[in-house]
Amino acid sequence: EKGGYDYFMLKEIAEQPKAVADTLLGRIDAAGSLSLDELRIPDSVLREIDKIVIVACGTAFHAGMIAKYAIEHWTRIACETELASEFRYRDPILDPRTLVIAISQSGETMDTLMALRHAREQGAKVLAICNTNGSTIPRESDAVLYTHAGPEVAVASTKAFLTQLVACYLVALYLGQVRGTKWGDEVRSMIRELSAISTQVEQVLGTMEPVRELARALADKDTVLFLGRHVGFPVALEGALKLKELAYMHAEGFAAGELKHGPIALIEDDLPVVVVVPSPRGRSVLHDKIVSNIQEIRARGARTIVIAEEGDEAVVPYADHLIRVPATPTLLQPLVATVPLQVFACELATARGNEVDQPRNLAKSVTVE
Ligand code: F6R
Repeated sequence: EKGGYDYFMLKEIAEQPKAVADTLLGRIDAAGSLSLDELRIPDSVLREIDKIVIVACGTAFHAGMIAKYAIEHWTRIACETELASEFRYRDPILDPRTLVIAISQSGETMDTLMALRHAREQGAKVLAICNTNGSTIPRESDAVLYTHAGPEVAVASTKAFLTQLVACYLVALYLGQVRGTKWGDEVRSMIRELSAISTQVEQVLGTMEPVRELARALADKDTVLFLGRHVGFPVALEGALKLKELAYMHAEGFAAGELKHGPIALIEDDLPVVVVVPSPRGRSVLHDKIVSNIQEIRARGARTIVIAEEGDEAVVPYADHLIRVPATPTLLQPLVATVPLQVFACELATARGNEVDQPRNLAKSVTVE
């Protein structure tokens, strides 16, 4: 059943190119536009939306954090992403022009379900992004966009996460397309770029041996830190979450700009710090800032593990370990940058003798609040 892999997690990591391609399948028409008729929310309603709130837990929450950057940029609709377990306890402001997006692999997460029930009671429209046909969350939503990752068995979410991202990008681009924004050309070119992602994920998977070697070398460490900016920040949080749940190590993700406001005090000799570097093309200011963050932590002794796109030479002098990912538009980079972090956590867990598919104290779907 594990298809020759030792763990479901390894199998599911390897299935990601297909999961991503399957989630795009049938949703881009011959003219290169998106057709998401399955949403069943009329375009006239989508044009009136003036606020988007994304609710989710854990890994799905990280997908929602990334979606916020994409939605605000491509649609110019204000978007906030909130942990489902916090959302309804703060009396959120919702009305019929609010679109709430609930992201859930299982479709059964109680916190997310309670959040969407609360949203519907306030009159908001709810769109579910879900991987499980006919599960509770899509049944209780106004509309659903299914991710086509196939069944995810390992407790740690991998392929579901990548397909959640794809679904979020599709929603963001579709809203951009329906409403027409000044980014019309960019929306069209992003649809093309998304079609290339499956192959790029495949490329990343083909270069993971040094990442596994590095993970084994770090098996005795107590702490690993993760840094990122912009969409690299949620990627850092996701890398840290994977390491906690699988390797049972202390792992934390930070927005790199926050370093100087506290976390830099944690840096000590030989502390592994993974840094997700945005593309030097496009938002180059971000890139330059993070390169100086890498310099700062390295000067204080950190062992820098740098994830950067091919051809980015500026990071080379400061990287103790360099993990290359294919060049993508910045907003799409999480689709390739997350993959090495999954492999890293899985290999570290194995090296520490942990049960990869069934981490202690965790269940695949959390049906209690
Ligand atoms: C982490 C993980 C969890 C889930 C979270 C939400 O690897 O799997 O953090 O992402 O429990 O689950 P779903 O997506 O089923 O609502």
